[in-house]
Amino acid sequence: MPVITEIEDLKRIYKRRVPKMFYDYAETGSWTEQTFRENSSDFDEIRLRQRIAVDMAGRTTAAKMVGQDYAMPVALAPVGLCGMQAADGEIKAARAAEKFGVPFTLSTMSICSIEDVASHTTKPFWFQVYTLKDDDFMKRLFARAKDANCSALVITVDLQIMGQRHKDLKNGLSAPPKLTPASILNLATKVPWGLEMLQTKRRFFGNIVGHAKGVTDPTSLGSWTAEAFDPSLDWERIKQFRSWWDGPVILKGILDPEDAKRALDVGADAIVVSNHGGRQLDGALSSIRMLPQIMDAVGDKIEVHLDSGIRSGQDVLKALAIGARGTMIGRAFVYGLGAMGEAGVTRALQVIHKELDTTMALCGERDVAKLGRHNLLLPENFATRWS
Ligand SMILES: Cc1cc2nc3c(=O)[nH]c(=O)nc-3n(C[C@H](O)[C@H](O)[C@H](O)COP(=O)(O)O)c2cc1C
Repeated sequence: MPVITEIEDLKRIYKRRVPKMFYDYAETGSWTEQTFRENSSDFDEIRLRQRIAVDMAGRTTAAKMVGQDYAMPVALAPVGLCGMQAADGEIKAARAAEKFGVPFTLSTMSICSIEDVASHTTKPFWFQVYTLKDDDFMKRLFARAKDANCSALVITVDLQIMGQRHKDLKNGLSAPPKLTPASILNLATKVPWGLEMLQTKRRFFGNIVGHAKGVTDPTSLGSWTAEAFDPSLDWERIKQFRSWWDGPVILKGILDPEDAKRALDVGADAIVVSNHGGRQLDGALSSIRMLPQIMDAVGDKIEVHLDSGIRSGQDVLKALAIGARGTMIGRAFVYGLGAMGEAGVTRALQVIHKELDTTMALCGERDVAKLGRHNLLLPENFATRWS
């Protein structure tokens, strides 16, 4: 087994192990992928201030997110189809997260169902919903998440309609994979993945098949998905969803200070500054570049989290130092999951935690809660280069 010291190591193993269709599904952005690329490369523009001769003993990365205590301010982002990256993927990722002491967010578009993940874990997880048209289905989804003891609801607000990812169309992405000459040739090279997949029954969208009206078998899912998303979503509708959940609500997918201000009116407990990992509006600025403006607009009124582009603990630290109270990682944990299942997700969390802790120490800080803009050197026009 190779020595894993960084997230990139997990990505290399992941690429070898998982069918191309699912690797491409994760490792792609919409259209030209400019936003996908800049989500990560913009972190590199930010530099850190080295401080010395500061007592670095007794450090802590412990953090509160939406009033809940965690080992570090990093949550696993909702990622659809984790159960195709590794058999029973959502259960494996949720277990790694609970052992590490960080939140796992289950996607509506998961393979393992809410009930299934709840029955294989002991701590509450977060549940993510898309803003769908069907009130009945949505209410039942909320009730199922409540029954499963989910401790926060993440409402994704940046996917009323879907951005286009060329590779998914070209690969004919589906769960389980459709057998075509190209996919059969590729699957033949992914034997360990296939053998694991043959041993599980969880191969369809567990939250939807058998629950949404008219979706009793996986073949009708395609037409349901095309119809289910609500292009007429507005703030009133978001407010309505908020009123259906009596616990913490996190609005995910805010990238503009004006939208961040609107989020205050609907009574959200937190927002996630996010462009969906560069999978929606290609050409949008990166999350980290938008964060300073959003902090200035609402940072003292609501808990602000950030995702999109995080591949290291240094990236997490930069977001925290600009003011985020929490972060989410998507691909960084998916690489681990695809590479080595639960152990791979644990490894991804360990890597990020170690990088965060060491970087914090070398910046002369002992507590993630004390990180601030004084730890950073930002290019003068970082937040205003495009106006
Ligand atoms: C393969 C994949 C599937 C995703 N599925 C969902 C989803 O079902 N719901 C959602 O709110 N976000 C989804 N996202 C977006 C993530 O929650 C998160 O915003 C994004 O991955 C953050 O960027 P990063 O991957 O660079 O960390 C998905 C992202 C990826 C890469």
